[in-house]
Order: sequence, then C-alpha cells, then structure tokens
Amino acid sequence: MAMPKEEGLDHTLAFLKEGYEFILHRRKSFQSDVFETTLLGKKAICLGGKEGAELFYDTDKFIRAGAAPNRLVKTLFGEGGVQTLDGEQHRNRKEMFMSIMTRNQLQKLDQLIEREWDRASEKWDEADQIKLYEASHHILMKAACGWAGVPLDDEKKRTEQMRHLFEAPAALGASHWQGRVSRSGAEKWISELVQQVRSGDLHPIREGALYVFSWHRDADGELLPAEVAAVEVLNILRPIVAISIYIVFAALALHQFPEEKKRLERGDGSIHRFVQEVRRFYPFFPATLAKVKKDFEWNGYQFKEGTMTLLDLYGNNHDPHLWEQPDLFRPERFLDWDKSPFDFIPQGGGDFGMGHRCAGEWVTIQVMEVSVDFLVNKLRYTVPEQDLSYSHSSMPSMPKSQMILTDIRKVSS
Ligand code: HEM
Repeated sequence: MAMPKEEGLDHTLAFLKEGYEFILHRRKSFQSDVFETTLLGKKAICLGGKEGAELFYDTDKFIRAGAAPNRLVKTLFGEGGVQTLDGEQHRNRKEMFMSIMTRNQLQKLDQLIEREWDRASEKWDEADQIKLYEASHHILMKAACGWAGVPLDDEKKRTEQMRHLFEAPAALGASHWQGRVSRSGAEKWISELVQQVRSGDLHPIREGALYVFSWHRDADGELLPAEVAAVEVLNILRPIVAISIYIVFAALALHQFPEEKKRLERGDGSIHRFVQEVRRFYPFFPATLAKVKKDFEWNGYQFKEGTMTLLDLYGNNHDPHLWEQPDLFRPERFLDWDKSPFDFIPQGGGDFGMGHRCAGEWVTIQVMEVSVDFLVNKLRYTVPEQDLSYSHSSMPSMPKSQMILTDIRKVSS
C-alpha cells in the first residue's frame, strides 16, 4: 500500500514556517499518523499517534547513528554522545546516565536549586526589573555544576556557553556559529577537568556526573575518550540550564491562568500536575529523529532502510485523539492520565533504559516543581506590560519579552 505522500519537491520551508505544527497539520489533513514528505532534499517519514510512537521506539526497526543533522550535532549534542549510539553501546552509556538519577541524588539537586533561588532572590531589590529567562540560567547553572561536581571557573562565560548550545541549532548566521564556538570552548573546559580527575589533581564529589563519567567504562571495558566524557557531562549541564525555557513558560501560565495560580496558592491544586501540563501545552522540541534500520512493513506501508523518520513530539501532546480539548491549559487532565509512555512525550517516549527517552525527565520535573513552588509561595512580583507572545515556529520558542518581573519581594518565612 502506498503511504500518504506530500506532493512537491521539498517542504523544508513549510517546516520552518509551520514549526511545531507542521507534522500535526499534515496528520490531520491526510487523516493518517504516518505520511511521507521531503525535508532537506531527502525523503522523510513522519510518525505520530500512540502506535506511531511505539513503532519509533522499537530498536529493531530504527537506529540513531547518522540520523541527526550536522548542525544539531555540532551545537546541541556534541560528537560521540549518547544520542547518536545504538545497541549495546547505547545501553551501556544510558546506564551511566541513569546511574546518577537516584532518589538521593535528585533530592540533592532539589536542595541546590532551592538554595540558588534563595540566593538570587535575596539580591533582587523591589526596584529591580529582572528577565526571568536570564535569571534562571544562572540559578540553574550554579545548581547544575554543584550537582555534577564541576568547579565553575567563570560563571558568566560558562552560563552563556550553555545557553548558546541550546539556542543555536535552529538559528541562522552568526547566532548559529556562536553555538559552534561555544561548544568547542565548553568541551575544552570539561575535557581538561576530566583529565584532572583522572590524574588525581581534582577530586569532585563521587556521585556527581564529572566523577562518574570520568571513570565510566564503555561496552569494550575502556574509559571514554576525555572529549566524549566531556560531551556527556555537557549532556547534563546544558539541558539543566535549558529548563529555564520551561520555567519561563510556567511563569507565563501562572500569569495567563490566574485561577490556576490561586489554586496552587490555596494548596488545592497540584504543583506536579501543573508542571506536567506546562510540559504538555507549551512548545519545546517539535520532533525527534531516527533512521530506518532495515526494510520492514508496518500496517501495509513499506519502510526502506536508511529513510529519515521524525516522531511528532509536540503533535502527540496536542493530538485531539489522545487529549480532550488539547488546546486548553488544564492541569487536572493529569488526574486520570493512564501514564502511557507514548502519548505524553515532550521529552521522548518509550523506556528510559532501552530507548532514547530523555535521561533527565525526572530532573526536569523536579527542578520545575521546586521553581514553581518558589514562584507561587516564596515570591511576590508584578508582571508589567510586555510582549508575552511566543512563536510556534522559532525553536526553541519563548515569550518575546523573556518574562520581565518587577516589584519582586521575598515572602518572609
Ligand atoms: C529542558 C527540558 C528538556 C527537554 C524538553 C528534553 C527533551 C529531550 C528529548 C526530546 C530527547 C530525545 C528523545 C528521543 O530522541 O527519543 C532527550 C534526550 C536526552 N536528554 Fe533531555 N530534555 C530536557 C532536559 C534534560 C535534562 C535536565 C537532562 C539531564 C540532566 C537531559 C538529558 C538528556 C539525555 C542524556 C538525552 C539522550 C538520551 C538517549 O539518547 O538515550 N535532558 N531530551
């Protein structure tokens, strides 16, 4: 059977224009959770829906090696990182990541995040005006480095580098190149620390990423090359700083849905469900990418070896077949969510250990919970007139004003 196919030579421009909604628009118009299009001059299959997500995470059917475009590897991912591995090598590397995500370690991170919010807010004066996006970068970077055991030599410079790594992949011109420059600077910084750990000149906490990754042995029993260990330490620091995007969206939701904020203040709403709804509702990554491992047939459709395949992350979170009134912000929907690993997938789906689902999903949820609790219960602030609109095509997306807060006061405890 022929797969529904989008006519025309190339649809990259439409993808850039329609952004997060590109795949879902076509899933709706084809009335199909699988269709073929052409992106970057190549045939691409787009998958969505629960069944589509389940198929995408079948490691007998799809691989990651060679799937990500160069501009992503050179900025966001880094070379040799877990995102680009398959099979035994991936399982081994993923275990390394999941080994630091223990309950104990997550509690430590909570405390560090809370301490940094405290420290930052003590410095804010009622007369100050802060941009929440930028303020969160510093809070998150300090906490992330403390958690990972990374000594922060030049806080401002290193925080900027992290920010460039996640802002650059879809950027054009100078901003994109800035991301590449920041990646080589950040990798050099962390590689040197890995070498110091190995030579005994640096003794970071033993549970943190710097120590654990420096001494991790890959599937062949070898230590990772220092540059690869550095790429993986950055796979902890960078995305923790990127949670700033969700913190800004959480603050936007508190502002735009004041009845939800009141419920949280009164204690009859759940911060956990609020955070889940922020992750479902607002855009972050539109899709994730893999390649067909070997020819196979699914529901009568042919998948040819090597074909680029996209899974519709944003679309599944907004799919009317999976969510009632998906375009309403309604945290209470999570009261009766069945915890399927394939419908709510802002950070990927499937199994953490076997597949490529985000290693930092629990970290993200906890950091957001601590931050939302701080915004709701420990701070008072005004949201002045500003441009809070956000685009559905720029990636990552963000309210244009980056969330300005004024009249900030800490609630005395
Ligand atoms: C800021 C919010 C975050 C979002 C939206 C996000 C999203 C994602 C997505 C979409 C993937 C790819 C899933 C796939 O391809 O199947 C991923 C993978 C990954 N994420 Fe996150 N992530 C976030 C935060 C974090 C944090 C805080 C960490 C670490 C502390 C982290 C570490 C990773 C790693 C290591 C992978 C690669 C996993 C693998 O390839 O097996 N992420 N993330």
